Amino acid sequence: MRKKLVIGNWKLHGGLARNEALLLGIRGSDAVARIDAAVCPPFPYFQQAVELLRGTSVTVGAQDLSAYREGAYTGEVAGEMLADLGCRWVIIGHSERRQLFGETDAVVAAKVGAALRAGLVPVLCVGESREQRESGAAEAVVAAQLEAVFSAVGAKALSGVVVAYEPIWAIGTGLTATPDQAQSMHLFIRNLLQRIGVDAMGVRILYGGSVNAGNAARLFDEKDIDGALVGGASLQVDGFLAICRAASAAVTIE
Ligand code: PGA
Repeated sequence: MRKKLVIGNWKLHGGLARNEALLLGIRGSDAVARIDAAVCPPFPYFQQAVELLRGTSVTVGAQDLSAYREGAYTGEVAGEMLADLGCRWVIIGHSERRQLFGETDAVVAAKVGAALRAGLVPVLCVGESREQRESGAAEAVVAAQLEAVFSAVGAKALSGVVVAYEPIWAIGTGLTATPDQAQSMHLFIRNLLQRIGVDAMGVRILYGGSVNAGNAARLFDEKDIDGALVGGASLQVDGFLAICRAASAAVTIE
């Protein structure tokens, strides 16, 4: 069964007072009752989110983690440390990390391995650029990103990830993939996972890229869209809850 999953990626936003208002607004809502909902704050606010969401169904994830477990790696945060604090999910391979911080497929694969070792659920981001889509290479790009992780961790481990399809041209731009475009890529991803030996019917595939209150419901109606990874709209209580409500109203795939 694939329960709908909505994850808020706060990116580099927040502050104690602002976070508190957001978290208190989310935690009391019935919009999150029938789905899995999570927030991913910046590291310094991780514990604040855990504390304010304790006893609720909303869980907390991280936006990144180290490929290393411990040692002389200044500035790094290990999956085991996050797990210690109550972390459930970790976003890995977001296009901003790939593009702005030079994360290669090999680094992404190592981080997926590190997350699984620590008992966290990797939210593995894949997606093509505008040029790649326009030149007809979107599926090949996404396939190569998934295969790089598969060859490092194997099919069994890959069964334990959430995949987030995030076309780069749709992130933070206000341009969303149409439900048809997104569904077609999600189906491609599911078939590819199945072909390489993953039990793909159980893998949740989220869509990300300018998801908001206005477009979420139509996306969630698609058969292979199991939820959303939400950036900008997750910073407002109303925006995030409207997306959660749309997910609640959509059918859970048995
Ligand atoms: P956006 O970001 O919703 O602001 O487009 C999505 C993401 O980067 O995960």
